This record gives sequence, structure tokens and C-alpha cells, in this order.
Amino acid sequence: MKHPIAIDLFAGSGGLTLGLKQAGFRVIGAIEIDPLAAETYRFNHSSTKIWEKDIRKVRIIELMKSLKIKKGELDLLAGCPPCQGFSTLRTLNGNQQIKDPRNSLIFEFIRFVKQMKPKTILLENVPHLAKDKDFEILGKGLEKLGYSWNWKILNASDFGVPQRRQRLILLAGLNGNLNFKTSKCKSQTVRKTIDHLPPAGNSGDPLHDLCEKRSLLVRNRIKLIPQNGGSRKSLKEEYQLACHKKGTGFKDVYGRMSWDKVSPTITGGCINPSKGRFLHPSKNRAITLREAALLQSFPRNYYFSLRRGKHAAAILIGNALPPKFVKYHGLGIKEYLTKIKGP
Ligand SMILES: C[S@@+](CC[C@H](N)C(=O)[O-])C[C@H]1O[C@@H](n2cnc3c(N)ncnc32)[C@H](O)[C@@H]1O
Repeated sequence: MKHPIAIDLFAGSGGLTLGLKQAGFRVIGAIEIDPLAAETYRFNHSSTKIWEKDIRKVRIIELMKSLKIKKGELDLLAGCPPCQGFSTLRTLNGNQQIKDPRNSLIFEFIRFVKQMKPKTILLENVPHLAKDKDFEILGKGLEKLGYSWNWKILNASDFGVPQRRQRLILLAGLNGNLNFKTSKCKSQTVRKTIDHLPPAGNSGDPLHDLCEKRSLLVRNRIKLIPQNGGSRKSLKEEYQLACHKKGTGFKDVYGRMSWDKVSPTITGGCINPSKGRFLHPSKNRAITLREAALLQSFPRNYYFSLRRGKHAAAILIGNALPPKFVKYHGLGIKEYLTKIKGP
């Protein structure tokens, strides 16, 4: 089976699509509501047909007609529904369910699966989804439609991504269990990923050259954080934020990354040192958008639109599923498809 076909729901800037393509899939269709994400996706994946609209308004029969596929023909239905409603902070560590209207979007998978009957399914989300009753309902729905399903919480750093990023991956297949592919990857470091870049500011890469505007106090605070993994707790009292003096707040805020470790999870706040351990290991600045994208395992020339500014671009980068992580799962799914269909 050379190039199985896939559809990407909630496609974002295309991290999942890229990983599937790297595993040998042909991603024929994608759905994404946000115009900036869709613009970025289109630029990087020009041969994929994209529906730039609310997934709930997509008429599946028309989509199938337009992609020239019949029920049962799609090899893989993949997607990362929005995870904000299931994240640790919003669920108070899984002990309280938060009613977020976006949570119901995971059931779009059931609507698509019912009508398309794909041979396999991949769904990604935050680990806390597993504690939500919607997850149980989703699994039961898949079983009812004839699928065997399986899920795991995995760390992208075990798959060669230079970043600690725990994610829930659900795999489902119509022809028996779809097992997870094991990885024998060595952990990649921040040094190997970003140390070779030219100095930020005039590299010619817009994602690496946007300047920071910070007050003198903040610039001085950053300078005083020890290089290579230092934290705000080393700051003299005069440079500490009032809220930090009380010993509260997230300890990673205003921290530097370590050269020889993986990076922390790259989030939508990844260019803002007040949102986490996002300072460069040795330069007196936060990581750039290009550095963030590389830590997400995007290739050096991947395009992210800056039309809505750098913070909007950071959200696209932080929301993405690292392509290198996806590639492994894609290869496992390809093996399953080959077994059921023959090469
Ligand atoms: C976690 S991100 C997807 C990341 C993407 N898979 C990647 O690897 O780059 C979720 C995406 O779902 C999109 N989204 C949210 N609500 C949607 C809806 N109702 N219809 C379609 N897309 C939606 C968001 O704009 C966001 O880009």
C-alpha cells in the first residue's frame, strides 16, 4: 500500500497533516474554521482540498462527492479536536468537569465515521480527556460502529521530538486492534535543534527576526536569570514580581530552557516568558517563533502566517501536533492497512 488516503479534521496549521505525509499518506481533505490557520495550512499543503468552515456545518455527503470517495474507501480519518475544555487547568486536575461547548466537537468524529466508515481513525487530545465521561461515550460510539479502539498517553519526546509533550492518542480500526508502534528514538536536545540558527534579528527569516518590546525592568530580570536552565527563584528580591514573592505562581515562569534537555511543552504562549519556561538557554530573550516551530519538529522552511501578528502565529505553533510524533503513528497505521489489504 503506497499512499493510503487520509482526511484531517480540525487541521490547524497542518502539523498532523505533515506527519501523515512524512509517513507516506496522501491527505486529500482538511477542515479548519480559523482563517489564519487555514491560510497557513493552504500555503504548506496546496494539494489538499480545505473546507474553511465550522465542521458542524460541513455536509459529509458533499465532501465525499467532492473528494471522489465512497463509504468505506477512506484509509484514515484523523484529527485533533480543540482540547481547551479538557486541559488540566480547566478541569482542575480532572476532578471537576467543565462545560465547554467546544468539548462536544469530539462527537463530530462519530458523525464522520458513521457516514464515511474509514478503515482507521486517529484522534489526539490532552491526557485529561481520558477522565472525561465524553471519552467513554466516544469509545462506546466507535464500538457500536464496529471499531476496535485503543488509547495511550504518550510523550512526544520518546519519539524524537525535542520537547516534553504528553498527549492522548486514540487509534481505532475496523479490522481488529490497531496497535501502537513502539519507538526506539533517542531524545533530542534543545541544543541540537536551535543552537545552529543564525542570530535572531537579521537572519532573513521573518519568524526568527521579530523584535521583542519589553520594559527595562523585565529586560534586566531576564538578564539575571542564570543561563542554561536557570529559574526566577535565583532573582534578587527587587527583581521578583510581587505575586512570586509570596511563593505562588508557576515555578517555570521566567525560566530558561536547558541546552542539553528537551524543551518544556510549547504552548500558544511560547514567546512570552511570563507564560512558562520560554527563555532561550543563553540569549537574553524568549525563544523566537522559528525556534518554537523547530522544537515542535516542523522543518526549517515551514510557513506560518504573521498576518495577525506574532502572538496569533505562536498559537498556531503551540496548537500543532508535532509532525515527527505523528509520523510514527502514521507508519503503524500504514502497516495495519497493508495487513488488511495487502501491499
Ligand atoms: C488542536 S488544533 C489542531 C492542530 C492541528 N492538528 C495541527 O497539528 O496543526 C484545533 C483546531 O481546531 C479548530 N477548530 C475549532 N473549532 C472548530 C470548528 N467548529 N470547526 C472546524 N475547526 C475548528 C481550531 O481553529 C484549531 O485550529
